[in-house]
Amino acid sequence: MKAILCKEFAPVSKLSWEEVPDPIAGPNEIVIDVKAAGLNYPDHLIVQGLYQFRPDLPFSPGHEGSGVVSSIGEGVSSTKVGDNVAFFKGFGAFAEKIVVHENFAFSIPPSFPHHVAAGVFMVYGTSLHALIQRANIGKDDEVLVLGAAGGVGLAAVDIAKAYGARVVAAVSTKEKAEVCARYGADDIIIYGKDKLDKEGQVALTEELKSKSKRGGYSIIYDPIGDCFSEPALRSIGWGGTYLVVGFAAGKIPSFPLNLMLLKGCAVSGVFIGRFQKEEPVANAQNLKTIGGLLAEGKINPFISKTVPMKDAVSSIEDIAKRKVLGKVVFVND
Ligand SMILES: NC(=O)c1ccc[n+]([C@@H]2O[C@H](COP(=O)([O-])OP(=O)(O)OC[C@H]3O[C@@H](n4cnc5c(N)ncnc54)[C@H](OP(=O)(O)O)[C@@H]3O)[C@@H](O)[C@H]2O)c1
Repeated sequence: MKAILCKEFAPVSKLSWEEVPDPIAGPNEIVIDVKAAGLNYPDHLIVQGLYQFRPDLPFSPGHEGSGVVSSIGEGVSSTKVGDNVAFFKGFGAFAEKIVVHENFAFSIPPSFPHHVAAGVFMVYGTSLHALIQRANIGKDDEVLVLGAAGGVGLAAVDIAKAYGARVVAAVSTKEKAEVCARYGADDIIIYGKDKLDKEGQVALTEELKSKSKRGGYSIIYDPIGDCFSEPALRSIGWGGTYLVVGFAAGKIPSFPLNLMLLKGCAVSGVFIGRFQKEEPVANAQNLKTIGGLLAEGKINPFISKTVPMKDAVSSIEDIAKRKVLGKVVFVND
């Protein structure tokens, strides 16, 4: 089989598309012929050795995908050869085949398009977990989403609207604002592409506060961090929940603790990989909920681009350059 291969921790341009041995299913594992794989922000970090863990070299990046089971190992009970499945794994999806533990694959209906299944579960799984388990979202909430036209951000907008909340979307450009408006955002803030100095942060705080109809947001969803987080926290309402999702803008910010005291708010961490391991039953229920919302047409994943798997490298570079809208998906012939 062929795969996108990382042979050294280096810039994305060093990745190659090469022949590698076919994977073999061990006990409780399945081999999947990958039809499509979703691009996620960590994919460009992991190949540079900048992610939370470093796989042994050589390896293929790619956290998630969708395909058809082509062989099963001893003891597999949840799936059989020929089943259509979506899967998660920390790496390995940007390839023609992948081996995963059966617990990290789940059936999808034969009619469900692989390119959609490949791009949904990481971002919607993360955002649903954040908004349900961490923030208990409901129709009376007012949600501020930063980086709202990116993968997890747009999923958060879509889910929050599906639960009837009011949503304010914050993004860097007009083009991204238009995507959020199409996804039902009730109001939009464009914070621009530059890092903010102290004055810029004060101005952003005021703008964020002015867009709230309830004297402060009850939920803030933050996948970008850096200089944007403190202005966002300063716009939270009494007793609100601030969701720490990621740091796509660069720096991991720190908050003055008095802000939490003054706002009576909670700052809550979101980590989908750990949640899947620690709370498999709740995670399975979340996946069912996502399947149900999809089937009812209440959520509508935005796959902005499908690209042949062998040409994945330039799109992996694009996500680092802030150029991706919604999701990009790589497909095998
Ligand atoms: N906690 C978890 O379990 C979990 C799960 C999945 C992802 N994440 C994290 O969430 C973050 C977003 O992931 P994603 O897949 O949604 O990525 P994405 O599609 O690339 O979206 C990230 C957004 O961040 C904003 N951004 C601001 N400054 C940026 C910069 N300097 N470079 C790149 N983007 C910048 C961009 O929006 P604007 O241009 O509008 O600012 C972009 O749309 C990442 O840090 C990722 O590691 C966390």
